[in-house]
Amino acid sequence: MWVGLIVAIVALLALVTVHDLLQTKHAILRNFPVIGHLRFFLEKIGPELRQYIVADNDEERPFSRDRRRWIYSSAKQENQYFGFGSDNDFDRPEPGYVIIKHSAFPHRPVAADAHSLHPVPVAKVIGEWRGRRHAFRPASVVNISGMSYGSLSGAAVEALNRGALLAGCWQSTGEGGLSTFHQQGGDLVFQIGTGYFGVRDRAGKFELSQLVDLCTANPVRAIELKLSQGAKPGLGGLLPGAKVTKVIAQVRHIEVGKDCVSPAYHETFSDIDTMLEFIETIADATGVPVGIKSAVGDNQFWTDLAGRMARTGTGPDFVVIDGGEGGTGAGPLAFTDHVSLPFRQGFPRVFRAFAEVDLHHKVGFGGSAKLGFPETALLALAMGCDWVSVAREAMMAIGCIQAQRCHTGHCPTGVATNNPWLEHGLDPNLKSVRCANYLVNLRRELLRLAHACGESHPSLVDLDRLELIGSDGVSRPAADVFNYRQGWGLPLAPQAAEVQRLLITTL
Ligand SMILES: Cc1cc2nc3c(=O)[nH]c(=O)nc-3n(C[C@H](O)[C@H](O)[C@H](O)COP(=O)(O)O)c2cc1C
Repeated sequence: MWVGLIVAIVALLALVTVHDLLQTKHAILRNFPVIGHLRFFLEKIGPELRQYIVADNDEERPFSRDRRRWIYSSAKQENQYFGFGSDNDFDRPEPGYVIIKHSAFPHRPVAADAHSLHPVPVAKVIGEWRGRRHAFRPASVVNISGMSYGSLSGAAVEALNRGALLAGCWQSTGEGGLSTFHQQGGDLVFQIGTGYFGVRDRAGKFELSQLVDLCTANPVRAIELKLSQGAKPGLGGLLPGAKVTKVIAQVRHIEVGKDCVSPAYHETFSDIDTMLEFIETIADATGVPVGIKSAVGDNQFWTDLAGRMARTGTGPDFVVIDGGEGGTGAGPLAFTDHVSLPFRQGFPRVFRAFAEVDLHHKVGFGGSAKLGFPETALLALAMGCDWVSVAREAMMAIGCIQAQRCHTGHCPTGVATNNPWLEHGLDPNLKSVRCANYLVNLRRELLRLAHACGESHPSLVDLDRLELIGSDGVSRPAADVFNYRQGWGLPLAPQAAEVQRLLITTL
């Protein structure tokens, strides 16, 4: 038997050697037959090797092991504490490291602390400024950012929607239309991208009546017009025909098996004036607040937009800024790495443009790009965001292991794939609870940080309470780093009083 086995192995190695020597595709195999395969194998498992063996707790990107561990333990309601003290290098902290300056007199607990959901409502009523019929106060300062059905599996979308319902927040649909997986009871923000998926005619043109019907039939609280996303701004997308299944075709209103193209630009508008007209048209017809989601590139666009809005009294009810470090299902490296500003550089430019024309208390602001952690969310709120939206953090809460295979369709955890076998592994019953646990724990931590800063609500924490480490290792006030005037980022006194009242009394 042993002899047979050895002969078989030798024969196999001989075959591989002959194949490697004859092929011309890979020089390394021609030069190093058989052994050269090790290089491909190591390259393939490199991310896992680095993740589990080589990298230290804070090293990895996009999310370090400490950060992933915090999400996993929050999602599983496990012990979220870290023992013995920080393992961060305080002698050489990395640039951008957030320091929160606590108060000598922390705030006393509020009703939201004792509540099992730790509800933290938004300080503004979105759509109030423009008098939208369905203006509303978002129930949560943490919401789920857009990720289309198609880039995520149906089971993942369902888990997120049910998680949003349990946690009391909204889920943005992403640009791929509104599927049955989104219809699990959680509040929705319907996203319109350049493909107008789900609200288009056969030729791909936007149809207002379809949008009105969709908003009437579903718990759509707001509409988000996507201009761009941080990971791939100014770039269209293509879903290859092979991936256009019957269900995806039904949801998107496209043809089964045919390549599905999202252009880089919107067909319905081409400049600020026509964009504002489009926003007003859909807001009038549906009654819900309408916002824009964008990455930050061209500065002039934002000053022009804010100026035009201040002059005409029209415009989006909210603006969501996505940082260049944001995620995507698939994007070219030059775009994911180099196009658009990171959140901490881009958001202040936009906020300043609105604050300078006194619109910052009227328009709602959302932010995304690695903001799903207590200290980054607190910083974003202090910078003027009214809420943060989380995408990859929510994916991790439902099982994503940062395998970075979203673009291949082979996501091992069933989150970012359409492969029925892989998707089968993701149980929405369990994962929806994990998603909710993560969202609720993030709110709880935000409340605790706010209290440490002497405030009842995280949106009341002044930017003066935060400092950022510079590249020289010196800590500087965040307001100086972002060039903010005193009070920018804080709600108006009546907004602050009302949100405090909600936190303290009505829960
Ligand atoms: C798998 C995946 C799919 C996404 N799809 C969309 C989308 O359809 N529309 C959109 O505006 N952003 C999309 N995004 C971007 C996220 O909504 C978010 O803006 C970005 O990932 C930053 O948030 P994060 O750092 O919490 O992930 C997607 C991101 C991922 C990871």
